[in-house]
Amino acid sequence: MLAHLYKTLCLTAALGAAASAHGQTPEQLAHAANIPHPAVIAHRGASYDAPESTLPAYLLARDLGADYLELDVQRTRDGQLIALHDDTLLRTTDIASKFPERKDKPVSDFTLAELKTLDAGSWFNAAHPQRACDSYKGLKILTLDEVLDVAQGGAHKPGVYIETKVPQQFPGIEHDLKAKLAQRGWLDGQHRVVLQTFEKGSLELLAKEMPQVPKVLLLWVGEGSIEPKSTVAFAASGMKDKAAYYAQQQPRDRAEFERWLDIAKANGAVGTGPSAALTEGGEQSYMDLVQPWMNKLTHDKGLLVHVYTVDEAVDFKKVSEAGVDGIFTNRTSELLKFYDRASTESVSQILQRNGY
Ligand code: G3P
Ligand code: CA
Repeated sequence: MLAHLYKTLCLTAALGAAASAHGQTPEQLAHAANIPHPAVIAHRGASYDAPESTLPAYLLARDLGADYLELDVQRTRDGQLIALHDDTLLRTTDIASKFPERKDKPVSDFTLAELKTLDAGSWFNAAHPQRACDSYKGLKILTLDEVLDVAQGGAHKPGVYIETKVPQQFPGIEHDLKAKLAQRGWLDGQHRVVLQTFEKGSLELLAKEMPQVPKVLLLWVGEGSIEPKSTVAFAASGMKDKAAYYAQQQPRDRAEFERWLDIAKANGAVGTGPSAALTEGGEQSYMDLVQPWMNKLTHDKGLLVHVYTVDEAVDFKKVSEAGVDGIFTNRTSELLKFYDRASTESVSQILQRNGY
């Protein structure tokens, strides 16, 4: 109870502080865009507990009660849209044994039928033996259609939060995405969709294709995004830990950060997706772009802040107190607990009920 009161007070304080020069509170901005506030965004599904971007990861996120299923969309050689994060298939599939000569090739080199022969689950069991599950072996890469099927099934009806990944490799993917969403009835106003990208050019194309759909510009410090204060590369920095290197990276100055907010706004975004530096570091710990002044400035522009990618209670608290409006997380179950929206079913109960 005390914890709940504390969280409510902290969130109220953060939001109150952000009641902005723009004249609308962040809750009002979110409401106007039909975005839950604060938003729980299941990053590649419930990807802490099941292999990222696979069926159990999305079923679990849905049944736990995530507001959005997050996915990175790419396009196969035969024009099918699929959910995959990396530029290649090496990390999360057995491509090296199935197609050894083409193992380093991008998704666009493979047909959907070829990709469907890959095992997208066994890597997880090897990487995370404490969360391994026999039924993860042989999981398939999913199409966007299949992720939409998951979102439409079940008692909860999460939205989808779709990133155009490496869009320069897939000319016209913004148009293809619109066609698929329209074909599935996901642009009729009855479903929640957010479109996201790191690329200014892709944001422009998404805005042209789907002006009515909320869009978020992802933020980063480095090439193609916010100019850094220091241009010393990781390799030349002498630092051993990449997360520590990222954590000390800063925008060149306040004006450079503001310039990117203006780019987001001018290209039809309703918000930004900044990175976070995580307390324990790790592979998904980047620059701290959710400092209170940054969030306040973003709110003052009439934009929302959805931070990526946060998994621990200590960091949920930190970014919430700094004023964010939603969180990308690999641990949907833990973020829902933090927001006092815990599922009545446990992770293992939901996985078992769904056959895993
Ligand atoms: O889309 C938000 C977050 O997912 C961006 O990072 O690399 O995990 O797609 P990444
Ligand atoms: Ca993403």
